[in-house]
Amino acid sequence: MEISENTLKKIQILKDKYASIGQDLDSYLDGLIYANPLAYWDYIEVDALLSLQKPKTDFPDEKIFIVYHQITELYFYLIQHELDQICRNGKIISEIGQDLGWNDKLDKDFFIARLKRCNMYFNTLTRSFDVMRLGMEKDQFTKFRMSLLSASGFQTASYRKIEISCTDLKYLVHENERKQLWDSDYHTQLDNIYWRRGAIVEGTGEKTLTLRDFENKYLDYFHEFADEYQPMNLWKKYKGLSEADQKDPELLKEMREIDVNVNINWPLVHYRTAVTYLARGKGESKGTGGTNWQKYLPPRFQRRIFYPELWSEEEIAEWGKKWVEEVLADGLKTESKLKDKI
Ligand code: HEM
Repeated sequence: MEISENTLKKIQILKDKYASIGQDLDSYLDGLIYANPLAYWDYIEVDALLSLQKPKTDFPDEKIFIVYHQITELYFYLIQHELDQICRNGKIISEIGQDLGWNDKLDKDFFIARLKRCNMYFNTLTRSFDVMRLGMEKDQFTKFRMSLLSASGFQTASYRKIEISCTDLKYLVHENERKQLWDSDYHTQLDNIYWRRGAIVEGTGEKTLTLRDFENKYLDYFHEFADEYQPMNLWKKYKGLSEADQKDPELLKEMREIDVNVNINWPLVHYRTAVTYLARGKGESKGTGGTNWQKYLPPRFQRRIFYPELWSEEEIAEWGKKWVEEVLADGLKTESKLKDKI
């Protein structure tokens, strides 16, 4: 069989690639002669993936609870993956130093395209939260959750990383201290981040075990993460664009959308789920993290806003209200549709 010009060119490229790291192409070609083709189950690691669900009880619905948390973690991971690319101006360098696409300056269209993906993932998560809200038997849930103390979704480090990558930490300081710490360094601001004030025991004001464990495991790491991401967070990247680019309607739409997704839409569907399972006729059950969740979780109480500059005073004053109404109205429709089907 004749070897085409094109194939010869590729062999030359491969020879150069291996030479650049002091390797000999011939040996790699020998390896190719014996290598097996790739199979789906090996590439996707299906067996490993399906061995990661380890319920603590025999209630069948606990599996749904675990799998949906894992799905969410994977989406958060993808969101971080996209944010990371924006923060690094879209630089891609392979492990052996090959240049796979390189921008020294952040390109506006790249920024928009990656941000769109983040919003798409968040929208998928928000829409699918009914898997939790309507997809488990309350009776099973109230029993198996008691085997999970003091673990809580509150301890999701990936959500905290997304926040740190999205904006300046001054915007995440608890509302009571925000003004006072506005000009502090970002480590002080991180030490006063809203969630460290939120997960406290109602009545005593002490930190919950959930919070203490979380801080022990991740607080130092979050400080290191902040060192890396605060100087190149999404807000800084946006402000680094030209004035004309900053006014691009598509970019503005995506920036506002991620603010609403992280700080209103997802927290809201999550909160509605907590209400579904934990609100009782005469009071509320505690979350597995033991927080005062009724006060802590609702977005209108937390009033976290990544990009206040992109909203009008009226929108800030009404933060969450309009969307609360929309989501609730939409939720009611979904609920009645689901009931029709069941
Ligand atoms: C039936 C389902 C769920 C219920 C009843 C629920 C309940 C709660 C409660 C009560 C809290 C406050 C902390 C505590 O006391 O434990 C909380 C926090 C949290 N949960 Fe969930 N949750 C559910 C599903 C999820 C899922 C699927 C995730 C995805 C990873 C998640 C992530 C979070 C996060 C990130 C927080 C902290 C929120 C914040 O700081 O604003 N939760 N959850």
